[in-house]
Amino acid sequence: MHAETPKNPLPQLRPVLELLADGDVHSGESLGAALGVSRAAVWKQLQKLERLGLPLESVRGRGYRLPGGLNLLDATELRAGLRPPARDLLDELLLHDRVDSTNARLLGLLEKNSGHGVAMLAEQQTAGRGRRGRQWISPFSGGINLSLGWQFGGGVQLLEGLSLAVGVAIAQALQEFGVPDVRLKWPNDVWCRGRKLAGVLLELSGDLTDRCAVVVGIGLNVGLRGDAASAIDQPWIDLNSVCPGIDRNRLAAALLNHLLPLLQSYPERGFAAYRQQWQQLDQFAGRPVRIVSVQRQWSGIAEGVDDTGALVVAVDGERRLFHGGEVSLREG
Ligand code: BTN
Repeated sequence: MHAETPKNPLPQLRPVLELLADGDVHSGESLGAALGVSRAAVWKQLQKLERLGLPLESVRGRGYRLPGGLNLLDATELRAGLRPPARDLLDELLLHDRVDSTNARLLGLLEKNSGHGVAMLAEQQTAGRGRRGRQWISPFSGGINLSLGWQFGGGVQLLEGLSLAVGVAIAQALQEFGVPDVRLKWPNDVWCRGRKLAGVLLELSGDLTDRCAVVVGIGLNVGLRGDAASAIDQPWIDLNSVCPGIDRNRLAAALLNHLLPLLQSYPERGFAAYRQQWQQLDQFAGRPVRIVSVQRQWSGIAEGVDDTGALVVAVDGERRLFHGGEVSLREG
C-alpha cells in the first residue's frame, strides 16, 4: 500500500518512477504517452525526481534515464519472500514512499492500540531517528528503513538485551544472501569490514511495568549516493559495495522472517538464547577497547557480553560490566 496523505506527496511520482526503474533511456514523448500527460508535465515530474536526490541523467537527443535503475519496494514482491511463521505473525505491511520517521509513525499506531505485528517500510525518511538523538540519513530508495511494532505483557524487563538479539537477526538475514564479513558492535550496530552497515533503534510505549509495546527500527544502507552519504558522521558502508544486486524486497522479507519469530518468543527465551550467536559475531572480542561515558572513560580488553546483554570488559585485570544507553564503545 502507498499511503496517500498530503504529507506523502510522492504517489503521483510512482508511475514515472516505475517506468524509469529499468534504468533504460526513455524519451520525454514516450514517458508522456505512457503517463497520459503532456511533455511539460513530464518535465516537472522529472525535476521533482532530481529534487529527491535521484541521479536522473539526460541523454542528448534520446531522453532520460536513472543509471543502474531503481529497485523499488513492492508489497507483492516482499510478501512473496515471507516464510512461516513470519507470514502468519505479520498483521499488516505498510509501504510508504516518504514519511518523517517509520518509528514515529509506528509509535503513533501503537498508542492507538493498532500497531501489533505491523511492519512499516519507507523509501525515504525526512526525519529518520538514530540512537543518541542522531539523524538517520535515509535517501530515496537508498536503504531499508523498517519499523516493526510488537505488544508485550509483563513489563519492559522482559525485553532486556532485545536490541542485541535484533542485531543477531539482521546478521542472519544478511548471511542468507551470502554477505561476507558481517559483525556486531555492542550494543546493536551491524558492521561490515570495519564500518557501520546497519543500526537498530528500539522505542517503547505504554505502561513499562505491565502492558507495553516496542517499535524495532532498523536502518540498513543498501546504495547510498554521494551527496546523502556525505552527511553521515561516522564510517559507513553500504551493501552494494560488498555484495551488489541484493533485491531490497527479498532482503526486507528475510529481515521479517527472522524478526517476527524473535519478537514472539523473546519474553520466554530472553537474551540468553542469543548470547552465543552474538559472541560469534562480535567485532571486538579479545580486542583493546575504550568505554566512554559522559564523565569518564575506561580502557580494557573486550570479553563479549553476559546473559543480559551487558558488555564485559577486563579493566586492569578486573571484570567490569557496562550497560547499553549509559556508555559507548570505541576501538582501543
Ligand atoms: C542507529 O543510530 O544506529 C539506529 C538507526 C535506526 C534507523 C531506523 S530507520 C527505520 C526506523 N525509523 C527511524 O526513524 N529510525 C529507525
